[in-house]
Amino acid sequence: MRRRVTKAIFPVAGLGTRFLPATKSVPKEIMTLVDRPLVQYAIDEARAAGIREFIFITSRGKGALEDYFDNAPQLEAELRRKGKDDLLELLRSTNMDSGEIAYMRQHRPLGLGHAVWCARRLIGNEPFAVILPDDVIAADTPCLQQMVEAFEEVGGNMVAAMEVPPAMTSAYGILDVKDDMGRMVSTRGLVEKPAPDSAPSNLAVIGRYILTPTVLQKLNRKQAGAGGEIQLTDAIDAAREDGEEVYGFRFRGQRFDCGSKAGFLQATVAFALARDDLRDELWSYITDMVNADKAAQ
Ligand code: UTP
Repeated sequence: MRRRVTKAIFPVAGLGTRFLPATKSVPKEIMTLVDRPLVQYAIDEARAAGIREFIFITSRGKGALEDYFDNAPQLEAELRRKGKDDLLELLRSTNMDSGEIAYMRQHRPLGLGHAVWCARRLIGNEPFAVILPDDVIAADTPCLQQMVEAFEEVGGNMVAAMEVPPAMTSAYGILDVKDDMGRMVSTRGLVEKPAPDSAPSNLAVIGRYILTPTVLQKLNRKQAGAGGEIQLTDAIDAAREDGEEVYGFRFRGQRFDCGSKAGFLQATVAFALARDDLRDELWSYITDMVNADKAAQ
């Protein structure tokens, strides 16, 4: 029987330069879609998939992130005193149990692969998930849960995959597809950030992975790849060269690239329009704006 996936790594040690100047003092992952930080969506998704140990790879200046996961007894007492039970409930739903969450420091931003490698001692010899909180996925069944269910069937390594416009391949890890089985593809290679004319497909890896410990061993080599960074996709491909399967998994859901300003804004609008308390007001604002724009043309 295959082992269950109970540990997830959340690499959040990047510099977040695309959100400067905000990220001078606010970690990108604590920025909110409406009123929930990006990390909260990531934690909720992981929990739904059966994850029990949450490992954050952090860096200097990410203190606000650790504070966010602390319980807030004073605030809870005040809400209780004021009879604000709904807010109290909301707050409690974000509490993490002691020992459930661990923080490791990545001392230098040497790349995503290096960030994942920092968690090797906490992972040991079992399969593990990796979630990038700035990829937010709206889905009826949370993306990682879809992947865990598929992983329990087939094992191997599994990366979330989606088709991107061919001109965009140089922004992603791209899969060289061996067999296309629809929901899943098997691969004969992964290439990090290929130029469109040399990309083996337009099926891109996005920020959800289920990986074997072999990938951590491959990261021991600490070889820099595209952009001079230690790339996770290179280590996954090295595990594949050693005979392990690497599957691309076409998830059901809508992915927002919240590491980019445009993606973050789109997610904000989509998540706000999905909320009963905000939809009408926001929708009438948007339609007024569109109508005014049309009238001005
Ligand atoms: P990005 O490529 O989005 O980089 O990293 P970034 O630093 O977060 O943002 P920009 O590009 O400067 O605006 C993808 C993920 O990998 C993590 C990031 O925190 C993010 O979750 N990462 C990246 C690390 O943890 N360590 C690294 O050395 C690099």
